[in-house]
Amino acid sequence: MESNPHQDDLDLMQTSLGLAPSALLSAMNAAREQTDKLFSVIRSGSLYERPIPQRHRLIFYLGHLEAFDWNQIGAWHLSQPRFHPSFDKLFEAGIDPDSGQLPSDRPSDWPTVAEVHGYCTRVRREVDTLLSTASDEVVYTAIEHRLMHAETLAYLIHNLPFDQKSGPGLGPLPSVSPPALNEAVAIPGGAATLGMKKDRSFGWDNEFDEHQVNVPPFRMDRHKVTNAEYLEFVRAGAAPPHFWVQKPEGWYLRGMFTMQRLPLASPVYVSHNEASAYARWKGKRLPTEAQFHRAAYGSRTGTERDFPWGSSPPLRFHGNFDFQYWDPISVNATPAGDSSFGVSQLVGNGWEWTSTIFGPFPGFQASPNYPGYSANFFDGQHYVLKGASPTTASRFLRRSFRNWFRPDYPYAYATFRCVENG
Ligand code: AVJ
Ligand code: FE
Repeated sequence: MESNPHQDDLDLMQTSLGLAPSALLSAMNAAREQTDKLFSVIRSGSLYERPIPQRHRLIFYLGHLEAFDWNQIGAWHLSQPRFHPSFDKLFEAGIDPDSGQLPSDRPSDWPTVAEVHGYCTRVRREVDTLLSTASDEVVYTAIEHRLMHAETLAYLIHNLPFDQKSGPGLGPLPSVSPPALNEAVAIPGGAATLGMKKDRSFGWDNEFDEHQVNVPPFRMDRHKVTNAEYLEFVRAGAAPPHFWVQKPEGWYLRGMFTMQRLPLASPVYVSHNEASAYARWKGKRLPTEAQFHRAAYGSRTGTERDFPWGSSPPLRFHGNFDFQYWDPISVNATPAGDSSFGVSQLVGNGWEWTSTIFGPFPGFQASPNYPGYSANFFDGQHYVLKGASPTTASRFLRRSFRNWFRPDYPYAYATFRCVENG
């Protein structure tokens, strides 16, 4: 899978607000290219499929990305008159039902592909003419929203049957031998800084304010839990994870485009319920959000890092993120990304579940332009994930970025590791 030209990515990563309008437009266009590429993977005729029962049909996402940009930048921020109010509303927001109340709409309830394409084309034209007058803040909201949906699209499409999609191969996966042992690394106690300062760089409402948490010493698995390790749990009676397929000759992994013999040295993708059951089985726990921060960004000198590997902007060899691969690679394939304490792949190769229920940081204020972005999920029913997956754009590798899902949601690119007392 081809990745963005890297320099653009660095520019995106490092910018605070205050970019020249042309840079904002090119950042927006790069994000559009990323999501366009994902839609082009779906075989025509499959846009009305619903690959994940808890989510909308794919056609919704085609309209949603543009409706969001228009609703935010045109209608809300710049008070422009609406040219298609019913689509603005229809495609405004996704859904997150619990597994007991799945949606029951039918393909015929949705507009035609031609109607949605017409709307999308018009929105892009309108948004392009407005970009130079829009605030950087609202444009970043749109760009980051779109790139988050690049990941949502990837894991939705992951669940389409192979014959309903086509895409580039995996590329050569780095070949390394599996780790002999997932030993626990001692993490000394100390401060962890969560959240971000309200300066001029972009962040979502749930990333504010910056605050310190004191973390007592603990021990953390050096590696993410592998398919091999989880297989022992399955052999002891646990249910197989969603991504696994059992055949007479053994276990397979349903990858994005291919069925693969279960890659034993790759991290296992699991739900929070599965991750915490495994941890309990081992007599361990999942890390808290603060423990994740301490292990990922803390150092023996007391200074905290921007990234586990230091302050260098993310490069390919630091980890499996930013669309280098569709699927996970071995847990020991990217030692250059290790943290100061020697913990591997805290960022990249799959989000990591924490034991922390998603909630507001002290000083939280919902954004007036998007009040429900986080607050709708402060319901005790979602857990924080940290890190990044293979299809997480580099922008989201900033320390303060937080992801969240329901504990029984098995579809996200979510991995885990365990902790125990220090
Ligand atoms: C932050 C990934 C949990 O997909 O539900 C996209 C991001 N919010 N559109 C989600 C989001 C609204 C959100 N996650
Ligand atoms: Fe959305």
